[in-house]
Amino acid sequence: MMLRLGDVAPNFKAKTSEGEIDFYEYLGDSWGVLFSHPADYTPVCTTELGRTAALNDEFVKRNVKVMALSVDSVESHKGWISDINETQGVEVNFPIIADEDKSISEAYGMLHPNASTTFTVRSLFIIAPDKTVKLIISYPASTGRNFQEILRVIDSLQLTAYHSVATPADWKDGEDVVVAPAIKTEDIPAKFPKGFKEIKPYLRTTPQPNK
Ligand code: BEZ
Repeated sequence: MMLRLGDVAPNFKAKTSEGEIDFYEYLGDSWGVLFSHPADYTPVCTTELGRTAALNDEFVKRNVKVMALSVDSVESHKGWISDINETQGVEVNFPIIADEDKSISEAYGMLHPNASTTFTVRSLFIIAPDKTVKLIISYPASTGRNFQEILRVIDSLQLTAYHSVATPADWKDGEDVVVAPAIKTEDIPAKFPKGFKEIKPYLRTTPQPNK
């Protein structure tokens, strides 16, 4: 069965490029990003893992732990990590799961047989500290993901987890947000002392509350 938003992310123990890891222990109280790629020693995947390593400070700042996955072996991952470090000018500093029996790929719905009978597609899951799944995306093998978009979604999730707001189209950290529909307009001044604009009764904006 496919995972859906709000579901609890299944725990697992896995062989990785950094040894055997229990997923929940690895995450601890952090947010998590778990993402699959089709295969080691492939060009798009090389750039994706390089970009993820280059963004390490951004993930740390947001209290996010990252873990990648492919169905190749630990030995293959280790050789490939050397190539990524060399060609992308980074140090890969997160584990890559060797899901050779595809059990984790199956549990997370990373195998899309009509797209590829052998490899995982580019799936990505954002997991909250309570282990619930907050975002699921699946990209085809030929399209590398936009990791700025992943950071943007994490910013939105972390903001909306603590404030009664939602983030509009193309929102970026620091920009105005929309007041949650559940908040009555007459209650906005007390909850959002920075002020608000009522564009329509259902469309109220306010400066980002935690900035
Ligand atoms: C890549 O990562 O470059 C890739 C992997 C599978 C199919 C196409 C591209």
